[in-house]
Amino acid sequence: MSTTVAIDGPAASGKSTVARLLASRLEGFYINTGDMYRTVTWQAQARGIDLESDGPAVVAMLDDLSLAYELSPEGVPELHLNGSVVPPDRIRNATVTRQVSYAARIPGVRIWMRSRQRDSRSLGTVVMEGRDIGTVILPDAPHKFFITASPEVRARRRLGQEGETDAGATVAAVAAEIAERDRIDSTRAVAPLKPADDALIINTDALTAEQVVDKIMASIEGGERGRRG
Ligand code: DC
Repeated sequence: MSTTVAIDGPAASGKSTVARLLASRLEGFYINTGDMYRTVTWQAQARGIDLESDGPAVVAMLDDLSLAYELSPEGVPELHLNGSVVPPDRIRNATVTRQVSYAARIPGVRIWMRSRQRDSRSLGTVVMEGRDIGTVILPDAPHKFFITASPEVRARRRLGQEGETDAGATVAAVAAEIAERDRIDSTRAVAPLKPADDALIINTDALTAEQVVDKIMASIEGGERGRRG
């Protein structure tokens, strides 16, 4: 039976690793909605649009973009922009990371994302990761998790992810950048970062990704048993 799992949480909390592992345990599909905001950011930067101040130009640009997850021949969801796979290094770099929160706070961008993200449910069992999946995109998802970690642990994890920070960046500098992104993500007017009322909150400071997935699987299996009565 197919199911839907919503995974939300702040930057560098470990949620991508967990969501990917979970999708593979459930034999489902992993959808990363952050990569969709990153792709819009990359495209706006490539056109010289000022993301911080020119929301209308970003929204106007969306008319030129066709963005969707499509299955590769191996059956893995891949993000496609205008018919081509989005190269990961174009969206997972310090230049995009610094500005992506500006794109994500533009209401017209979030509205545009909504149906594109919801469409992924048609794949079958889906583990969808982001900031507003449990609250806005899939409020009816039967399983919702909010993954957190302390600022220092998150900064160390981000530093360990190749290409995502500037060369020579310090823990303190990365922690400050993450804190600023959290501030913008959680104070924006539309769909701010926050746990859904019915989400299970998991702090991952002292847990490996496998241990987090074990906790999530136990909760999912318990929930499915409860539903079957
Ligand atoms: O998960 P990430 O760091 O790749 O996300 C990039 C940015 O996109 C992050 O600053 C917040 C935003 N985002 C969002 O607002 N809503 C989502 N569902 C996913 C990401």
